[in-house]
Amino acid sequence: MSKFKRALLCGTALLLLTGLLGVTTQTIASGERLYGRFTKDNELYTPRNYREWVFIGASVTPNDLNDGSAAFPEFHNVYIDPGSYEHWKKTGEFRNNTVIVKELASVGDTEAASGNGYFPGEFGGIAAMVKSEKRYPDRPGNWAYFGFDGKSRHGAIQDDSACSACHQENADQDQVFLQFYPVLRAAKP
Ligand code: HEC
Repeated sequence: MSKFKRALLCGTALLLLTGLLGVTTQTIASGERLYGRFTKDNELYTPRNYREWVFIGASVTPNDLNDGSAAFPEFHNVYIDPGSYEHWKKTGEFRNNTVIVKELASVGDTEAASGNGYFPGEFGGIAAMVKSEKRYPDRPGNWAYFGFDGKSRHGAIQDDSACSACHQENADQDQVFLQFYPVLRAAKP
């Protein structure tokens, strides 16, 4: 087999392998690690392994305090990709290529050995936001928002009026609700 053919085969095998393992990290020239994989239309493939990212907060909007049906039921477990957390610790800014995932979980029990309260039940899907000058040059703050239906392999970009508008108006920093993330506030330089 020629050297060229062998190199081609190796390359293809490597691509297949990284695809199968769902590798979602790449390192760029500056040494920064990037997270998230995208379709050719810049839609975010359903992130994997985000539960191993940096956990920044868990707001809860229980149905029973929201007329029986919260907009995002009910626990919101929020994770930021580790490369962007590193950047945040150094600069106090959300870098280009930040990926934030919000995973929803229902309220399960309301009584436990520790007292009355809201205790997490089952997972109920995710939402995400990605900041990228290159991919979303026309979106406010270069943030794109994604909804996931649990069937498609990637998220669908949402209209700015559906997501971004409320974030722009109410979030403390760059469309992120810093006011609810003590983990980020504590790490801000
Ligand atoms: C009416 C206001 C409102 C709308 C509309 C809204 N959000 Fe949010 N979002 C919030 C608030 C408040 C938080 C933080 C507290 C919480 O999780 O309840 C949040 C948190 C998030 C987070 C975690 C990071 C952050 O910025 O705090 C993501 C990701 C997110 N929302 C995605 C979306 C997506 C995707 C949509 C559109 C389908 C959307 N949001 C629509 C108010 C909104």
